[in-house]
Amino acid sequence: MSKRLIIRGGRPLRGDVAVSGSKNAALYAIAAALLTADTVTIRNAPEIADIGEMVDVCRSLGADVELDGTTVSIRAAEFTATSPPIERVIALRASFLVMGPLLARVGEAACASPGGDVIGVRPLDVHLAGFRALGAEVSRAGAEWAARATTLHGARIFLDYPSVLGTVNVMFAASLAPGTTTIVNAAAEPEVAMAADMLNQMGARVSGHGTAMMTIEGVHRLHGADVTVVPDRIETGTYLLAGVATGGDLRVTNAVRADLDSLLTKFSEMGVAVDLDEGPGVRVACPHPLKPVQVQSVPYPGFPTDLHAPMAAALTQANGVSTIHERVFDNRTAYVAELRSMGARIMTGGQMVLIEGPTPLVGAAVRALDIRAGAAVVIAALAADGETHVSGIDHLDRGYAHLAQRLTALGAAVERA
Ligand code: EPU
Repeated sequence: MSKRLIIRGGRPLRGDVAVSGSKNAALYAIAAALLTADTVTIRNAPEIADIGEMVDVCRSLGADVELDGTTVSIRAAEFTATSPPIERVIALRASFLVMGPLLARVGEAACASPGGDVIGVRPLDVHLAGFRALGAEVSRAGAEWAARATTLHGARIFLDYPSVLGTVNVMFAASLAPGTTTIVNAAAEPEVAMAADMLNQMGARVSGHGTAMMTIEGVHRLHGADVTVVPDRIETGTYLLAGVATGGDLRVTNAVRADLDSLLTKFSEMGVAVDLDEGPGVRVACPHPLKPVQVQSVPYPGFPTDLHAPMAAALTQANGVSTIHERVFDNRTAYVAELRSMGARIMTGGQMVLIEGPTPLVGAAVRALDIRAGAAVVIAALAADGETHVSGIDHLDRGYAHLAQRLTALGAAVERA
């Protein structure tokens, strides 16, 4: 297995790139398949490590799963376990999404606190309070959270925070809970909306998804479906930001424009030429110098926390002082030290990041500390003079399919070694 990326920077990225299906939407779709005994086919899943991990989580429960390139077929006719082993659970945060489907289908579920990126305190209270409101008894047994219910029932549920996975988990359980469930302060992310659309295709009755107020009329059973995962908006943003940082001219051919308002607005403030007229997708052309901007990362439709670090890398090339206020996770600034070692002038104070540009970046040995921190150092490396060695690329492999090949096709000098 390759251990690092070697990037020789200073080449503007040019050309077209098509992104993979959304990582997070695909993970939710795999978990949703556990809600039915029928076969569910998921197409356009990204070829990344996290999909394999989620497949293994489902297999550990007794589901039959085939993973063939970008297609996942799942049949969870019956379960042989109601709790995935902890070594599977710690690999990724989305593993906790087995709770809602198991609880709804067999009345019991247990799962250890899941792993995932180290980007701050990642509590589960939203999930657990939601299960309780639907009539489950929730308890802690050692490392595991357990939920049990003879019958679930619909409820009006206010989420203290619009947690993305929390909303999805509660929606999953509610889809088979008799009665009406209303989720107030629901997450409105496009990936949540896709999960709701998929449930409806399986026979569920979900409405209001994509807004902060969702309604779910519980049904008796769900059936199989054949769904296609939407293009990844975070991967889209990452490539566009790589184009911006390198002063390139790049088009993401399958970008879903409607999901990118927050990013495209910042591009226009930065003076990036955004071309939306030329067929589908989004094209950015980036005459340097760019203008600095103020960014706040917040829940959708605000600027995504997952683009905070990639945006910071691009802003090292803007002419003046930019700020990013991280308002979702409390430990998302570890990437700052890596960018500093490449010559960036970045400071942090609490949840604020201040970036002074433009700085010429220079190649260095840096680490990908999580998926998006990894994307940030890759963007900086593409814009830097000289050679950058990026270690910890298992994080990048969790979220970005065929990264080196795609960047190479855009004119970058990238190899795995
Ligand atoms: N929170 C609570 N209580 C909860 C759950 C979360 O207070 O029960 C708080 C967290 O402390 C955090 C905030 O809510 O401050 C956001 O967490 P959320 O639950 O929304 O995040 P998540 O569902 O665990 C998903 C994505 C993340 C993405 C966030 C925010 C998956 C597998 N993960 O995580 O994606 O950053 O939503 O959009 O879907 C990534 O793809 O690199 C990634 C980290």
